[in-house]
Amino acid sequence: MGKILAMLPNFTEEQKAVFRSWPAGTYDPRFNIDGKNTPLVMPPAYGLAEVKNETYTADAPISYWNAYVAVTQMYAQGNFSDPRLGVHVVHEPDLVTPKLAALRAYQHSLSTPPPPGASFDATGARRGKVVFDASCARCHVNGNLTDNNDGVLHAPSETGMDPAYAERTLTKRYRTTPLRGLWQHPPYFHDGSAETLEEFIEHYDETLNLRLTRQQRRDLREYLKTL
Ligand code: HEC
Repeated sequence: MGKILAMLPNFTEEQKAVFRSWPAGTYDPRFNIDGKNTPLVMPPAYGLAEVKNETYTADAPISYWNAYVAVTQMYAQGNFSDPRLGVHVVHEPDLVTPKLAALRAYQHSLSTPPPPGASFDATGARRGKVVFDASCARCHVNGNLTDNNDGVLHAPSETGMDPAYAERTLTKRYRTTPLRGLWQHPPYFHDGSAETLEEFIEHYDETLNLRLTRQQRRDLREYLKTL
């Protein structure tokens, strides 16, 4: 994304250098508003029908985010206002707002692809579910595996996250990420700070002081591959 933006004439050389520095598959949706730079991993686009607030900090539901991206990031012709952010763009006639409902219906229709059968060890995954239920399920709840549908948000320190991005947002906190298609999309966490499932389990083991055995880590990894 950064490389594409850097090809446009609209930006200064300084801004383009920042765009080029973003790792593949990442994007900073606030850079052109506050000038700070903490690129985020693009979240998966499927499974959204069960997710109340898309985005890592749960600022608002999916159509808000679609409008935000279209108008404030892609410079589409339309209106977008959020007094909380001090953003007020009016570009009539508004070609964005009338498309949001259909776009949302399409996005909600994208279900999570099932993991390829041979990609995980089923017995280990069954044991891993027990580890998950004991260590993770207080935040990753219900079918969609996020407590944000019940309005909960978490301070960055609760899961050992870098607070830099949260501080730039409205909520200042991170939403429990709904877990879907994990086998498909490393790196993990909003900033991609865990490259692999192993690294990511290591992070949680330390931060949440879980003291998992090697076997439990392996089983948990196999279970995560099934989501
Ligand atoms: C205190 C609540 C809490 C607990 C307990 C918890 N998580 Fe999370 N989880 C979160 C939050 C909040 C995030 C979002 C972190 C971020 O990216 O900023 C997250 C993110 C993740 C992600 C990243 C998903 C992605 O696509 O980037 C995975 C995977 C995950 N958690 C799995 C687990 C597992 C496995 C456990 C148990 C070992 C666990 N979580 C325990 C709250 C929790």
